Amino acid sequence: MKKYILDLTVKSVEQVHERYVLVKLTSKETLPQMLPGQFVEVRVDGSATTFLRRPISIHFVDYQQNELWLLVACIGDGTKAIGALKSGDVLNCVLPLGHGFTIASDNRKCLLVGGGVGVAPLLYLGAELKRQGVEPTFLLGARTGKDLLMLDEFRKYGRVMVTTEDGSEGEKGFVTNHSVLEQEQFDFIQTCGPTPMMKAVARVARQKGIDCEASLENLMACGLGACLCCVEKTTEGNLCVCKEGPVFNIKRLLWQD
Ligand code: FES
Repeated sequence: MKKYILDLTVKSVEQVHERYVLVKLTSKETLPQMLPGQFVEVRVDGSATTFLRRPISIHFVDYQQNELWLLVACIGDGTKAIGALKSGDVLNCVLPLGHGFTIASDNRKCLLVGGGVGVAPLLYLGAELKRQGVEPTFLLGARTGKDLLMLDEFRKYGRVMVTTEDGSEGEKGFVTNHSVLEQEQFDFIQTCGPTPMMKAVARVARQKGIDCEASLENLMACGLGACLCCVEKTTEGNLCVCKEGPVFNIKRLLWQD
């Protein structure tokens, strides 16, 4: 896919959690096509400690409003600078990058499993699945109820199940403990979140013989396959997550534990 370097205009920055902001960006030009699971590399201006672009998942693309949504965890100086942007500011982005999720069709029963800020790409994935006539089930995990992000948006595209570690919302425990995995049969699992969570999800998928894709969150710098800092060992040797992924079928990963 063709890549673009665009100066996008900040339409709004909404604090959706004490650590997360939802940034809506727009452009005078029509936004290019982007696929669920792809990401953007954002240039952070005005931060003395942030030299490299920051990779951020595409949370949603609203083509009617010509908006790109980014759900940003404001943890380091770079992402905090993004969280401090104001309406009208300009954010320079390289996009769309990487290889995204497979869009299932043919009535496959899809389970989208996310944790933490890893839920971000699942919203756009769910919307695209619904557009293809496949209504997904979202299984979203967090430490507490107040750490569950964007639930009302997810509910627009499918059924939403949640787990929390403290039991304050949904079922208590981790996503892999949720009863839906015992009670229902799924054809396809797609997951994004912390690596231990994704490995646990992959283990369940393998045990049940369910096809599964995971979006890896390896450290990235260039985002273009040039610096090799994002390499993952796979069944095909070392692959750059930024270029060959971030989404991989788990059969290609050496996650056999
Ligand atoms: Fe540079 Fe992947 S981030 S090669």
